[in-house]
Amino acid sequence: MEKPFSVAIDGPSGAGKSTIARAAARRFGFIYVDTGAIYRTLGLAVRRAGLGEHDERGVSELLPSVRISLRYDGEGGQRMYLGDEDVSGSIRTQEIAMYASGVSAMPAVRAKLLEMQRSLAREHSVVMDGRDIATVVLPDADLKVFLTASPEKRAERRYAELRGRGSEESYEQVLRETLRRDGQDESRAAAPLRRAEDAVVVDTSELTLEESIEAVCSLIAGRLGGDGGE
Ligand code: DC
Repeated sequence: MEKPFSVAIDGPSGAGKSTIARAAARRFGFIYVDTGAIYRTLGLAVRRAGLGEHDERGVSELLPSVRISLRYDGEGGQRMYLGDEDVSGSIRTQEIAMYASGVSAMPAVRAKLLEMQRSLAREHSVVMDGRDIATVVLPDADLKVFLTASPEKRAERRYAELRGRGSEESYEQVLRETLRRDGQDESRAAAPLRRAEDAVVVDTSELTLEESIEAVCSLIAGRLGGDGGE
């Protein structure tokens, strides 16, 4: 078997990582791995156990009993399972995002989830997005992209997305939470969000979604040395 090709996409929340990574994966026939969803699934388990998002001792005790798995549907969509329950929808709330951010600062959590992420990239060509993919999970990725945008633009996009799902949160609230989550993800000791030295920065503040997808796809095509992924 040919060695799988790996693309690592990191960046703050709301930069468009998941939409862009999913589109790029589809274009090249790779698997899209949304690692944030894995942390969110654990965040949901912690929330359901009645623990606080910063309760490191409680979370460590809970960890061995948490069964997280990931499956792909026919269209390359990633489904998240907690035990036998499909929680792909339940993890998409701001509350669970904060839990995910909280628990992801714990080294024991990162250690538990690392191998799951690496094994996917050993077996398949992937576009994997997260916060520490280029720096920790796949330091030898074939292409590393740091996808970013201004906090205001990111909050605007998140706000529109939440609205679409019926959430009543105000833009100001979403911006505050975006800044708070950025701060938490960047300042933690364990695998903080930072750009890998060899990552290409793509700032999507002034780009449309289509332009952002094209920018990332042309980087991938360039690394593959081909003309569009063949
Ligand atoms: O990308 P997201 O919003 O679904 O991520 C939720 C949280 O999970 C994010 O605030 C930080 C954490 N996370 C992480 O620490 N490492 C990753 N590779 C992905 C997400």
